[in-house]
Parts: sequence; C-alpha cells; structure tokens
Amino acid sequence: MIETQLLSGTVVAAAVKEEVAARVVALAKRDKSVGLATVLVGEDPASEVYVRNKRRTAENLGIKSIHHQLPADTSQGEVDDLILRLNEDPAVNGILVQLPLPAGLDGERTVNLIDPTKDADGLHPSNLGKLILGRPGLTPCTPTGVMRILEHYGIEVTGRHAVVIGRSFLVGRPLALLFNQKGVDATVTMAHSRTPNLAAVARAADIVVAAVGVPKLVGPDFVKPGATVIDVGINRTDDGLVGDADFEALQGIAGAMTPVPKGVGPMTVAMLMHNTVTAAEAACSRGNRPSSPVVVER
Ligand code: GUN
Repeated sequence: MIETQLLSGTVVAAAVKEEVAARVVALAKRDKSVGLATVLVGEDPASEVYVRNKRRTAENLGIKSIHHQLPADTSQGEVDDLILRLNEDPAVNGILVQLPLPAGLDGERTVNLIDPTKDADGLHPSNLGKLILGRPGLTPCTPTGVMRILEHYGIEVTGRHAVVIGRSFLVGRPLALLFNQKGVDATVTMAHSRTPNLAAVARAADIVVAAVGVPKLVGPDFVKPGATVIDVGINRTDDGLVGDADFEALQGIAGAMTPVPKGVGPMTVAMLMHNTVTAAEAACSRGNRPSSPVVVER
C-alpha cells in the first residue's frame, strides 16, 4: 500500500516568503523600498479575496501595497492611463492587474501595456516570449510555484514524464515550458479537455498536473500508482472549494499530492512577491529606468 505524501503549498510558500522578506531587508539597507501596485476593476468576489490576500502578504513582507480599486464601468482609456502612470512611478516595482477584467475591458491589451520589467505576474508577451526562448525573465506565478513545490519536496523532474492537463496562458502552457526547459528536462505532454483517452494519457505520467477547472476530474483511472499529482484547480461547488483532482480517492494511489486548499494557491501569492522583489532588485541595479519604452496604440 502506497502512503500518499502531502505536498503542502503553505509550507513551501512560507519558505519562499521568508527568502523574499530577507531580500526586501537587503534592499532597504541600500535605501531602496519595494512597492507592488494591485489593480482591481469591478467587484468580483473571488477577485476581491485574491487581491486582499496579495496586498496583505505584501505588507507582511515589508513590500508597500499600492492599491487601485476601479468601478466596473471604468473605460479602457482610464485603465490604460493608470497602467502608464504606474509604469512611470519609481515607487512601483511590480504591477498586478487582477484578471479577468469586467466585460467591455480588454485584459490582454491591459497586460500588454505593463512595463515588462514591472510585470510581477509574468504574463506580458515579452516575458512569455523569454520563457519560450529559455532566457531569464519574470515567469508566471502559478506555474513557477508548481515547480517550486516539486523542488522543495525533492520530487525528481529530470527525465520524468509530466502530463499537464489544461492549456491556459496563465498556467498550463507556461508550466509545460518550465518542465521542458534545459536543465529541468522533463518530457511533457500538453493535454486538455479535448484530448482523446485523457485518462490513459494521464496514466502514463510520472507527474500529473490538473489545471482545467473540472471538479475532481483526475481520479484513480488517471493516476499511475506512485505518480505525483499537482492540483491547480480551484472550483467553487455546493460542497465548497474542490480541486481538479479527487484528493480522497487518490490516497494510497498517488505517491505525493497537493491538497486544495493549501496546495498550489498559496504558491501563486508567494511567487508574486518573489517576482516583485526580483523586479525591485533589477530596478535598483539599473537605477530605476524602465528597460524599454512602452508604445501605446490609441
Ligand atoms: N486571475 C486568476 N489567477 C490570476 C493570476 O495569477 N494573476 C492575475 N493577474 N489574475 C489572475
């Protein structure tokens, strides 16, 4: 009988946050403060919770939280102007626009306006492009957090077969690239909701990542005995918060597994702080100039 190891995102996030706090102190000694701007448009309750959590975590780590709350009927021009102001503000090292934006606003356009050197979410096309090229840059928080959990618990990735279920630009696609990078060297299958025989595809994996938004999709038929299961799903159901994997049914089958909550979720916030302090260190070395001008098409 396999005893399934619990991979606690809370534990790994605490280690990341401790490292971030120390780097914030080191910058303070060089007279450099660290600031994270959060932009929340509208009143989506889940987004409000996420942003509150990000702001609180920033303050706990000595990062100044600069929050902009805008009404749902804010125009795209007003959002654009705010982002351009934040790009120019030397007190702002990281900019996070909580997605999705309300109907009528263009999330992709808005993220594209962020100065890539302040892109704390790692979602700007310039940073995603660097990820494809294997060059250093700010990487998306949730996928980077997944890699950090695996590293923390010493789960071998090199030479292993990872199956990533889900192809969102926030999680699945960048995560597949991280698994695939030189030096990490996993073999990756990018699966999704339309993959035929999905269970059989997942069953071939040493590491299964579920990031599709289907409650309890990944059950015993998806998991090879002893495989690691990383559950990125956060589904609000009548039974409360449920992941994309069936946590109970996989006990004794998975070798190791993240829970929901307290799995990948806390890592997204921790890696946001990590990116923010990394951006602040880079700004400090550059003398605060943005790396390249941002061109706005009106
Ligand atoms: N909405 C859901 N996840 C995320 C995230 O990681 N970043 C942003 N900006 N919005 C999100």
